[in-house]
Amino acid sequence: MGDNTNIRIGLVVMSDRASAGVRPDGVEGVIREFLAKEGADLAKVSIIPDEADIIGKKLVEWADSGRLDLVLTSGGTGVSPRDVTPEATCAILQQEIPGIPEAMRAESLKITNRAVLSRGVAGIRNGVMIVNLPGSPKAALENLACVYSALLHGVAKAQGDKSDCAPTH
Ligand code: MTE
Repeated sequence: MGDNTNIRIGLVVMSDRASAGVRPDGVEGVIREFLAKEGADLAKVSIIPDEADIIGKKLVEWADSGRLDLVLTSGGTGVSPRDVTPEATCAILQQEIPGIPEAMRAESLKITNRAVLSRGVAGIRNGVMIVNLPGSPKAALENLACVYSALLHGVAKAQGDKSDCAPTH
């Protein structure tokens, strides 16, 4: 795919409470709203509990399906005992991309010093980019917005785009 065309995006929400139906998930709506402005949409959404083996299986299934280009995750990136998203993600990535969470935390620090508490990671599995976002709708949106255009370029490169990178600055 090119940088902007028809990107197929999935969202996995990690939340014990939302997956049990105890509280509604608020992330899907804000992500959809953001993507709509970018001319994109969510092709798949899943809400699962904060369990490392369930998270790992879901990410492998989606990344290896050939049906998605970008998998966003939301939640479980913090420091509570049930926050295992970064570990579960790292375990299934083939290449880590430290610059993505570095940029998200750097931008988020301008908004809140609690940004340092998100341990999210990002990387590639089988040409699919996987990016951890924090769990609150506001935090997820702030993190996604500051890296989104670079994600599109990264997905194109991860899928074999050999063209020279056009100057961006
Ligand atoms: N990043 C941004 N941009 N805005 C926020 O409000 N909240 C932080 C952090 N990152 C926040 C943020 C907080 S309070 C936590 S605990 C961590 O994300 C981890 O969130 P998670 O456990 O829901 O993934």
